[in-house]
Amino acid sequence: MQPVITFALAKGRLAEQAFELLEQLGIDCTEPRNPGRQLVLWDRKSNVRFILVKPSDVPTYVDHGVADFGVVGKDTLLESGRPLYEVLDLTFGRCKLCIAGYADQTNQSATRATFRVATKYPNIAHSYYDGKGQTIEIIELHGSIELGPVIGLSDVILDIVESGSTLRANGLSVLEEVCDVSARLVVNRVSMKTKRDRIRQIIDGMAEQVAKLK
Ligand code: PRP
Repeated sequence: MQPVITFALAKGRLAEQAFELLEQLGIDCTEPRNPGRQLVLWDRKSNVRFILVKPSDVPTYVDHGVADFGVVGKDTLLESGRPLYEVLDLTFGRCKLCIAGYADQTNQSATRATFRVATKYPNIAHSYYDGKGQTIEIIELHGSIELGPVIGLSDVILDIVESGSTLRANGLSVLEEVCDVSARLVVNRVSMKTKRDRIRQIIDGMAEQVAKLK
């Protein structure tokens, strides 16, 4: 009997693309594709279960070992700072973490003592600006980050940019690129040892499918 393997998936588009990969491995994703109000979904035949959670909670479930695998964006992973094994770049969900603001920054912070960065990634922002030796004040927001500079709450934002249309629609531009982002497969450190064969089989299967996407 194969051990139960639990996947924590970031709800939404990343989960949909993960299902496509897993189905190629013969894992039935009918239940998690149609979850209703149910929180734990199964493929009983393969002994695989799924939890669909908020992206920022995926690293938490995997770190605590209640999920063996997680599928989550690199942005969320970096922000969490959790010591997970990042075993595979799944290549979908591509975007960039960027500093954005008005192209003409003159006088933006003239009336403020500190340079303000609006973001839902305070840890990434701190480490990025620490690396540049620049002191900043973080304004933590949880959505519509672009409003920061537009409404005068912050000088810049640190956020993900995919098509760039939200920035353009609000008269903002990318000022600095921080890093590339895509979905990653992460594994709990203990599961990697205790369920080694099954975990390895799934990683190898997913890697094979990802190679076909390129
Ligand atoms: C994300 C992100 C940007 C936007 C970037 O927001 O925070 O606002 O997408 O995508 P684009 O470059 O293709 O315009 P999301 O749509 O997740 O909503 P949110 O603002 O509520 O976080």
